[in-house]
Amino acid sequence: MKNFTEQKYTIPTLKGISAKTIEEHLKLYAGYVKNSNSVLELLGKYSTDTTANSYVIGELHRRFSFEFNGMRNHEIYFSSLEGGSTPLPTGSTLKKAIEAEAGSLDNFLAAFKNLATTTRGIGWAVLWYDRKNERLLASWIDEQHLGQLQGATPILMLDMWEHSYVADYQPSGKKQYVEDFFANLNWSVIEKNFSEAVK
Ligand SMILES: [Fe+2]
Repeated sequence: MKNFTEQKYTIPTLKGISAKTIEEHLKLYAGYVKNSNSVLELLGKYSTDTTANSYVIGELHRRFSFEFNGMRNHEIYFSSLEGGSTPLPTGSTLKKAIEAEAGSLDNFLAAFKNLATTTRGIGWAVLWYDRKNERLLASWIDEQHLGQLQGATPILMLDMWEHSYVADYQPSGKKQYVEDFFANLNWSVIEKNFSEAVK
């Protein structure tokens, strides 16, 4: 069996988000990778007696999407903070798609920041590409795994769990965290995610 591998990220000095927060956050990401592997390993072990272990097996199956999506969500988040702040080039394919959807990049950003800051609870603000209908969609994921859009590819993911920002911003600083995330964002990574999603 091929195990999931922890990816390594080189995150530069960021505006607002401290190196300590990134360090601790990467440890949480590593936990999702470890647990994704562990859940599959345990399922194999307990499945030798499905009658005696039926409750455990059922809970492990329920747990897997939380761990797996926690792993993948963070890989998109951290990769988008590598390489330093980079704007979305004028004339880029993604920018044109955003403008077609929202009218302008500014309109899109305002709506996305609103999604991130006003949705209650822990989760993620996500920009997806729905290949079937050839359009961008923004929506919220609760926790790590509740609310993924079936068949759509996530191209931009903003972690809105409190561990992402509370140490640096306090709970009341959520809006500034979102502003700083976009100030730190490497849009060339998002453009690449988009170009791979539309293939
Ligand atoms: Fe996180």
